[in-house]
Amino acid sequence: MDLFEYQARDLFEAHGVPVLAGAIATTPEQARDAAQRIGASSGGVTVVKAQVKTGGRGKAGGVKVAKTLDEAEEAARNILGMDIKGHTVGTVMVAAGARIAEEYYFSVLLDRANRSYLAMCSKEGGMEIEQLAVERPEALAKVEVDPNVGIDAAKAKEIVDEAGFDAETGAAIVPVLQQLWTVYRDEDATLVEVNPLVRTEDGSIIALDGKVTLDANADFRHPEHAALEDKASADPLEAKAKELGLNYVKLDGNVGIIGNGAGLVMSTLDVVAYAGQELSGAAPSVLASPANFLDIGGGASADVMANGLSVILGDEQVKAVFVNVFGGITACDEVAKGIVGALESLGGSAKKPLVVRLDGNNVDEGRRILADLNHPLVTIEETMDGAARKAAELAAEN
Ligand SMILES: Nc1ncnc2c1ncn2[C@@H]1O[C@H](COP(=O)(O)OP(=O)(O)OP(=O)(O)O)[C@@H](O)[C@H]1O
Ligand SMILES: [Mg+2]
Repeated sequence: MDLFEYQARDLFEAHGVPVLAGAIATTPEQARDAAQRIGASSGGVTVVKAQVKTGGRGKAGGVKVAKTLDEAEEAARNILGMDIKGHTVGTVMVAAGARIAEEYYFSVLLDRANRSYLAMCSKEGGMEIEQLAVERPEALAKVEVDPNVGIDAAKAKEIVDEAGFDAETGAAIVPVLQQLWTVYRDEDATLVEVNPLVRTEDGSIIALDGKVTLDANADFRHPEHAALEDKASADPLEAKAKELGLNYVKLDGNVGIIGNGAGLVMSTLDVVAYAGQELSGAAPSVLASPANFLDIGGGASADVMANGLSVILGDEQVKAVFVNVFGGITACDEVAKGIVGALESLGGSAKKPLVVRLDGNNVDEGRRILADLNHPLVTIEETMDGAARKAAELAAEN
């Protein structure tokens, strides 16, 4: 989960990273009040910043310096509602204005390819770091961080030395990098990025902008992270699926997909996409493509199947559903009973055609149960490709 800048700021503060005062606002009037409170610490100067989970806010006009309360209110009026790379600004943060002497860059992230962590640091921070990384990679220091050791004083010194800081500035940055490491480690983040990390005119080092990505695999040990979720912009179907404990991702197509096991569901997406392309004679297909990813996992009980179907059928874009199950520990007859139970519990609300492909453990019994059901909406197919084609055709027709 990516955090908003203001949430990153709060986490930074909780871990002792130096940040400036900041408060959020959703109306120009609130921004004015916030500027009054916040500006007291910075000679009346505040910065009004769009809170959207994308980069390049400054360049898009989403970061504005305000010298008076009127200017802060006006800036908020302009920024609220603004579209930045497809993200509509619903919240601004009013931050104390910093007197910046220099802007630096620092990040620590999960380096999957090397099975390690990677710290990156540059004396040339600010708004163009992606460009810097491409055009002058030597200006961006990259230092591997041993996950078992983390960024201790020695590692932090190595990072600032590698980035080419002078001794005095380097020494001032070292403790800040150590504190940022505690954010990364203690919050189970996969990314902590500060751009810019600034030196102010009076010599203090401050994190002026923060990006944090939290590792959802560690949610179980951070119940407090649930409060950071952006419920307002979450897809309602994804939210419902999450509540039901389902592994669901909404996609843009019209063929709903349910399978057991992430690998099988991934390949089901592929065969459906392919069937759709064959049907429309073009890629990407305009006639049929996957509407979602839904993995019901191992023990697909009637309840899980019903929950899964109800989420998928709740998607208006879905015109047909493909149930693709390979019976392993859960035998096909159990799955078939699950589908029967699901159709019973959904009753008249199940209106879209269902293509079912069962294979594996106890497949004959599973197919027999579905054949006996003889439900007008259910088509049984023997092969995965055949089922994908059938589901794509039905979706294209409806
Ligand atoms: N509190 C502040 N005081 C003074 N200047 C600021 C403050 N916050 C940001 N700035 C200036 O605005 C620039 C852009 O701000 P920021 O880094 O937050 O947004 P951004 O880089 O455009 O967004 P993103 O990091 O999402 O691409 C900074 O590089 C800095 O020069
Ligand atoms: Mg930035």
